Amino acid sequence: MKALLVTGVAGFIGSNFARYYLEKYPGRRLIGLDALTYAGNLENLEGLPADRFIFVKGDITDAALVGSLVRTCDGVINFAAESHVDRSIHDPLSFMRTNVLGTGTLLEAARACWRQGGRWQPGVRFLQVSTDEVYGSLGKEGMFTEETPLDPHSPYSASKAGADLLAGAYHDTYGMPVVITRCSNNYGPYQFPEKLIPLMIRNALAHQPLPVYGDGRQVRDWLHVEDHCRALDRALEDGVAGEVYNIGGCNERENIGIVRLVLSILEEETGDPGISPSLIRHVSDRPGHDRRYAIDASKIRGELGWQPGIPFDDGIRSTIRWYLDNRGWTERVVSGEYLAFYEKNYGSRSKGPLT
Ligand code: NAD
Ligand code: TYD
Repeated sequence: MKALLVTGVAGFIGSNFARYYLEKYPGRRLIGLDALTYAGNLENLEGLPADRFIFVKGDITDAALVGSLVRTCDGVINFAAESHVDRSIHDPLSFMRTNVLGTGTLLEAARACWRQGGRWQPGVRFLQVSTDEVYGSLGKEGMFTEETPLDPHSPYSASKAGADLLAGAYHDTYGMPVVITRCSNNYGPYQFPEKLIPLMIRNALAHQPLPVYGDGRQVRDWLHVEDHCRALDRALEDGVAGEVYNIGGCNERENIGIVRLVLSILEEETGDPGISPSLIRHVSDRPGHDRRYAIDASKIRGELGWQPGIPFDDGIRSTIRWYLDNRGWTERVVSGEYLAFYEKNYGSRSKGPLT
């Protein structure tokens, strides 16, 4: 094996994956590529072994750079993305650029570098890291399977669906050994505090209002990031080219339940009387808000022998402890840019009564 190119390595899941992979495979090397947008932080990569991990700052839409890196690798795992639904509502074009054009640029580089004389080099592999959000929204019943038609509703999920379709087309047209994974909502250490769980932790610790969109009864299927990383490893090692694998925790929760649970653990862990459900504030809903996601992960369980290993009650408590122990990290990654976004996203929302 030459090396694995990990794009988006300085983000939440990319950095957790790099740590997991280098620990699991002491003989393997990673090249990490990241544009270091607001969501990418080099601090997330501290402690990775310097003899087996190289970091390159750059953009996945830069064809020359991507080509030079892919040439030295025999695998690509593409995490790089604009990943936040609310930001995609304010600035959809940057999502199309990175998520669609960027994925296309990586696929083109892989096609140019890995195919010689009409044949693919043995052992090469392209893993497109995608999301359950491409399937759209569920009613009260049912789950997404790999056969569920794509029906994205946000600019974020539409751009991820576009990337999935491109990746699939490179398999069908050129025979590229592409695998696509679609995972449910992740939680765990190093998640940028714009996403539900770390945002609620940060606001509660500062005794700021906790903005719950609409009635808060929307449902997400939460999976610890380490379980996601183990599933990605299985898909890279043994996933069948051209196949899609759903990844999920069988752990459906209403948003309001998550917020209340985070509050109660924080109250317990800190003893801070300023942290209480009185901070919860229902605000106007996200436009196009998907009501429910639920993943049927029986394919990856049955075919690749993966299953989630971290019970939610343990995972959420250890995640909250991580944020308590790393309050400096949270404050360092939150820049002026984040504060401006926060004002744009939350400042104009109508507010309901405190509950
Ligand atoms: P993140 O926002 O934390 O990290 C994204 C990383 O990509 C950042 O480090 C950023 O700097 C980098 N990046 C952005 N644009 C880039 C560009 N043009 N070139 C190079 N690097 C660029 O996101 P995440 O939560 O770690 O998600 C990683 C991947 O997993 C995404 O593709 C996302 O769609 C997918 N995913 C996320 C979740 C989740 O719950 N977070 C669930 C399923 C799938
Ligand atoms: P998020 O973490 O943004 O992930 P996604 O939208 O990709 O699922 O949001 C998770 C859920 O939490 C989603 O239903 C929107 C809701 N939410 C709030 O109610 N308030 C918030 O401030 C945020 C960021 C999210």
